[in-house]
Amino acid sequence: MDDIVFKKIIREDEIETLQNRESTIGGFSYRYDGDTLALLKRNFHRDGSLYLMARQGDDFVAFVSADTDWWEPDCYFLREIFVNPAYQGYGVGEKLVKACIGHARKNHAKAMVTETAFENLPMQKLCESNGFEKWNNPEWKEGITYRLDLA
Ligand SMILES: CC(C)(COP(=O)(O)OP(=O)(O)OC[C@H]1O[C@@H](n2cnc3c(N)ncnc32)[C@H](O)[C@@H]1OP(=O)(O)O)[C@@H](O)C(=O)NCCC(=O)NCCS
Repeated sequence: MDDIVFKKIIREDEIETLQNRESTIGGFSYRYDGDTLALLKRNFHRDGSLYLMARQGDDFVAFVSADTDWWEPDCYFLREIFVNPAYQGYGVGEKLVKACIGHARKNHAKAMVTETAFENLPMQKLCESNGFEKWNNPEWKEGITYRLDLA
C-alpha cells in the first residue's frame, strides 16, 4: 500500500471515475449513481472544497470530498468517502478522513460533520477512531450524524 498516491482533483470530469462503483460490506451496499455525481460536480466549484483521489498506478483506490454546503456556517461536511473494495481495511479511509480534518482546520472551520447509515459499521468505526461523536442533528434522522468540534 506504500505506493498509493493521493492527489487533489483539479478537473470536474475526474469525478466520472466514480460512476457505478459499488461496495457491499455485510448487509450494507453503497453505489454511485448519476444524482450523487451531479451533486459532487456542483459542490466541486464551491470555495474551499477539497476533492482527493487516490491511485496505485492506473488503479482507482479511493475518493473523498469535503465542502461547506452545510446549514450551519463555518462547518465542513465530509460528503463522500469511498475506498475501492480491493483496498479496504488497509487504512486508506483513515488517511482520507485525516486529510479532510486537516483541510477544515486550515480553513478555520468550527466543526466537521458527516452522515452515515445505521448499517454502515466501517464508517462508524472510522468516525469514532478520528474523534467524531454522534450528534443529534435536528435536520436529519434517517441515519447517524457525526460531528467533530474543531474550534
Ligand atoms: C468506510 C470506508 C471508506 C472505510 O475505508 P477503509 O479504507 O476500509 O478504512 P480503514 O482501513 O481506514 O478502516 C477504518 C475502520 O473500518 C473498519 N473496517 C474496514 N473494513 C471493514 C469491514 N469489511 N468490516 C468491518 N469493519 C471494517 C476497520 O477495522 C477500521 O476500524 P478500526 O480502526 O476500529 O479497526 C469503506 O468501507 C468504504 O469505502 N465503504 C463504502 C463507501 C461508504 O460506505 N462510504 C461512507 C458513506 S457515509
